[in-house]
Amino acid sequence: MAIETSSTVRELVLANPAAARTLEKFGIDYCCGGSKSLAEACAKASVPVEQVIGAIEKPQSNPDARDWQTAALGELTRHIVEKHHAFTREELKRLKSLLAKVVSAHGANHPEVARVQSIFHELDKELTMHMMKEEEILFPYIENMEAAVNAKRSLPPCMFGTVQNPVRMMMMEHDSAGDALREMRAETSSYAVPAEACLSYQELYRALPAFEADLHEHIHLENNILFPRTIQMEEAAF
Ligand SMILES: [Fe+2]
Ligand SMILES: [Fe+2]
Repeated sequence: MAIETSSTVRELVLANPAAARTLEKFGIDYCCGGSKSLAEACAKASVPVEQVIGAIEKPQSNPDARDWQTAALGELTRHIVEKHHAFTREELKRLKSLLAKVVSAHGANHPEVARVQSIFHELDKELTMHMMKEEEILFPYIENMEAAVNAKRSLPPCMFGTVQNPVRMMMMEHDSAGDALREMRAETSSYAVPAEACLSYQELYRALPAFEADLHEHIHLENNILFPRTIQMEEAAF
C-alpha cells in the first residue's frame, strides 16, 4: 500500500502498526500528535518525508533462512548478538519508557499494566546481565574452542570445568525469562487491547508479543542449536 504524505500519522500507524517503531526512531510523535499529516509531522521533526517513507517501506529481511545446524558456531554467535541481543536491548529500553507512559495514563483503570511493568523491569535486569555473560564469557569461549578444534590445537583453558556448566546456567535463565513472558501474557489476556486504549497502549500490546516472539526465536537458537553443538564439539575434542 502506497503511503500518502497527506494521510495523518495516526492513520498510518493504524494501517501499519510496524511503522510506529520507525516513527519513534525519527522522533515523530504518533500518539498525541497523531492528527498531523505525515508531511507536517516530518517537517516538525526536521526529517525528510521521503526518508521516513523509505524506512517504513523497507522490506524485512529474513536472515534465518540460514541453516544453523551446519554454519560455523562463531557465525551463529555473531548472528545471535547482532540480531537478537541488539533487538532485545533496543526493545527493553523503548518498552520501559512506553510502559511508564501507559501506566501513568491508564494504570488507575488497568492495574494489570503496572504488574506487567514490574515483571518487565525484573526481566530487563535479568536479560541485561544474561546477555552480558554470553557476550563477554560464553560466546568468546565457544569461538576460541571452535578455532582450536579447526586448527587441531588443544582446547583453550576453561575456567568453568566443562562448557556444560555455563550452558546449564544460561538455560536456567532462559526458563526464568520464559516464565516472565508467560506471566505478562496471562496478566494481559494475551495482549487484548482495551477499547479505550490510546495509541501508545496499542503499540505496547503490539510490541510486547513481538518482543516475546523474538526472544522465543533467540532462546531456540541457543538452547536447541548453539548449546548442543557446543557440548558435542567439546566432547569430541576431549
Ligand atoms: Fe542470547
Ligand atoms: Fe541466552
